[in-house]
Amino acid sequence: MYVSKNVSLKPYNTFGIDVAAEYFLELNKEELLPEISSDNSLPQKKYALGGGSNILLSKPIEGLVIQNLLKGISIENEDEDHVWLKVAAGEIWHELVLYAIGMGWAGIENLALIPGTVGAAPIQNIGAYGVEAKETIESVRFWHWDKKTFITYSTAECRFGYRDSVFKQELKDKVFITSVVFRLNKKPVFNTSYGPIVQELQKMNVQDLSIKAIAEAVIAIRSSKLPDPRKIGNAGSFFKNPAISADHFELLQTNYPDIPCYPFNDTNVKVPAGWLIEKCGWKGYRKDDIGVHEKQALVLVNYGNAKGDEIWSLSAEILESVKMRFGITLEREVQVW
Ligand code: EPU
Repeated sequence: MYVSKNVSLKPYNTFGIDVAAEYFLELNKEELLPEISSDNSLPQKKYALGGGSNILLSKPIEGLVIQNLLKGISIENEDEDHVWLKVAAGEIWHELVLYAIGMGWAGIENLALIPGTVGAAPIQNIGAYGVEAKETIESVRFWHWDKKTFITYSTAECRFGYRDSVFKQELKDKVFITSVVFRLNKKPVFNTSYGPIVQELQKMNVQDLSIKAIAEAVIAIRSSKLPDPRKIGNAGSFFKNPAISADHFELLQTNYPDIPCYPFNDTNVKVPAGWLIEKCGWKGYRKDDIGVHEKQALVLVNYGNAKGDEIWSLSAEILESVKMRFGITLEREVQVW
């Protein structure tokens, strides 16, 4: 086990923020976790780092950052209809999607090209284009830092919600996810409920719908709207889409007849935060190295050497203006370290 000191995290976060971690460790064997737990020379405070695609580094990190490099995919079980796949948390999410498509196993094709690792998928129940990770997650295994033991949670115990789970609530900073079991479908059920997918499939002139075609459509849509973190630093959607009451929505509709919404639950509807932010005039905004993406107002960007606290301040200004104009308080989706 090799622990480095004072390591720049710039290559390890898609926002490309340059701050140092006091201690840094690459973890490629889960058996090391008990050892790390009982090593009193290491800091108490531990940070689990996956692909670094949903974090905003606001200050130098005091503590031990552990990069999850656990690898491996194996079949746990299968029957005529399904395959249960155990995937180590350090596997790259998009590579898992491509692997599943190659094997003809359906369920995660709509989630193509989402940056990050498999271990991050359950934390915020990643979702896109009409599908959420929770629909295929069977269980999640993790190391609990205080209990000093490995635990496996079922889907119910993970308490998944919209971009939410127990790992963002009670278990926040308390666990290190080591693997996830997915239940994939050998007999695909296609999900093209998200309008732009159908349009994209038509554009691609797809005759026979397949999971591969859906993934290609998703990749095309994502690439056209979302900035590539290798070129422009970003962490995808910075805010969640807020849920508001039907009454509040009706009130807004009188002033903004074109306001979009999606059904959420019996009493609330979800409104696209990107639309609200754009209406407040932020889309394409740039000041020095920080900005709001020109094609998707929900994405804050680092054009070069932005500092985490500058991005945080910009997000606070956006929050304030959306609140003033629409009476809606946005919630940040990214995790702030
Ligand atoms: N819109 C605007 N202006 C903008 C951006 C969006 O008016 O600048 C409008 C669009 O015209 C559309 C609506 O908002 O009517 C929704 O936009 P889009 O389809 O781009 O999706 P989103 O609601 O902004 C969510 C997820 C994305 C996911 C897409 C597709 C959240 C916080 N974001 O974005 O997830 O890829 O739907 O399913 O739920 C992420 O979480 O990092 C992420 C990228």
